[in-house]
Amino acid sequence: MRTIDSLGDLAGKKVLVRSDFNVPLDENKNITDDGRIRAALPTITRLREAGARVILMAHLGRPKGEVKPEFSLAPVAARLGELLGAEVALAEDTVGADAQAKVAAMNDGDVVLLQNVRFDPRETSKDAAEREEFARELAALADAYVSDGFGVVHRAQASVYDVAKELPNAAGELVFKEIDSLSRATTNPERPYTVVLGGSKVSDKLGVIANLLEVADRLVIGGGMAFTFLKAQGKEVGASLLEADQIETVQGYLAKAAEKGVEILLPVDVVVAPEFAADAPATVVSADAIPADQMGLDVGPETGKLYADAIASSKTVVWNGPMGVFEFDAFAGGTKAVAAAMENADGFTIVGGGDSAAAVRLLGFDESKFSHISTGGGASLEFLEGKELPGIAVLEG
Ligand code: 3PG
Repeated sequence: MRTIDSLGDLAGKKVLVRSDFNVPLDENKNITDDGRIRAALPTITRLREAGARVILMAHLGRPKGEVKPEFSLAPVAARLGELLGAEVALAEDTVGADAQAKVAAMNDGDVVLLQNVRFDPRETSKDAAEREEFARELAALADAYVSDGFGVVHRAQASVYDVAKELPNAAGELVFKEIDSLSRATTNPERPYTVVLGGSKVSDKLGVIANLLEVADRLVIGGGMAFTFLKAQGKEVGASLLEADQIETVQGYLAKAAEKGVEILLPVDVVVAPEFAADAPATVVSADAIPADQMGLDVGPETGKLYADAIASSKTVVWNGPMGVFEFDAFAGGTKAVAAAMENADGFTIVGGGDSAAAVRLLGFDESKFSHISTGGGASLEFLEGKELPGIAVLEG
């Protein structure tokens, strides 16, 4: 990977930057967590200071190749403009007449944000020729390409992967920072090395669990996926989330962990409720006694303590995925316990995953007390799994 410096004198040059601005929005299209936008500022500022004309491209959500106004990047353009203290012109299209006109009208240091790249079906096309055609149209807007959307480098999509082949390219500040920090967990991690995994679906995390069993000392499991683990141990999980088709795989993991001496921590108590709702009556029960008509929506307080102790006694900790439905107060305790333990830990602490990073900020924790808060969800997991990330591999060496 080459640095922005390697692109030479950028004064007056048009630099196309892929950022990850896939931020959560509420029903009124207000951004509820702007972490990914703030994380993009160092590269944008650096390019502007070098006199470049900064053309940003990004996606929001999964509009599946159609122009859907609810996925417009307008809220991002507004927030980015506030954070930069400068106008961010949002093009009405991605590579069309308006994008071309706005780019042509740029002065040095100006910032233009192209409309959602996923409004064009070629962005995510499985057909390489289609993606390449779109990448050429994007590249035609600029003189150089900077890859800075770490959260999307695991996607072999036109604006991430194919475009890098069309222009002199470099990795941005965020991509360097992410790789530098995440590498602390993949290359000789200081031990004990604990990985805390949450979130709802086991199937999303299968690859990472299989791989982490080879490197981690301890796996701490929470969130909806914990119930598939409990079921795999023969416990009843009531109406909790369960991926029945993964039970056998999980039993295989438990056996492999025992064989390799990897400790797996599972909930010992659970906060249950009769339905998935903010005001549902919450009760704490033992993980052995989940009532048939109740669902687990968080790990319980005993589990929170157990997980906090595991974090406190580790030298490297990676956390990906909330422990429960932290958006609802009554079911935020487990996620708070893990976040607080990470905040106070002496070891190297990495928060990976869009949801857990958002949880840290939304629950009011002090970001500066974590060693690294990744902007990547799937990307950080794939990095930790040791997979090759197409958006990184394509960059010039
Ligand atoms: C993310 O939110 O993890 C990234 O922006 C990638 O989004 P995607 O999973 O829709 O490709």
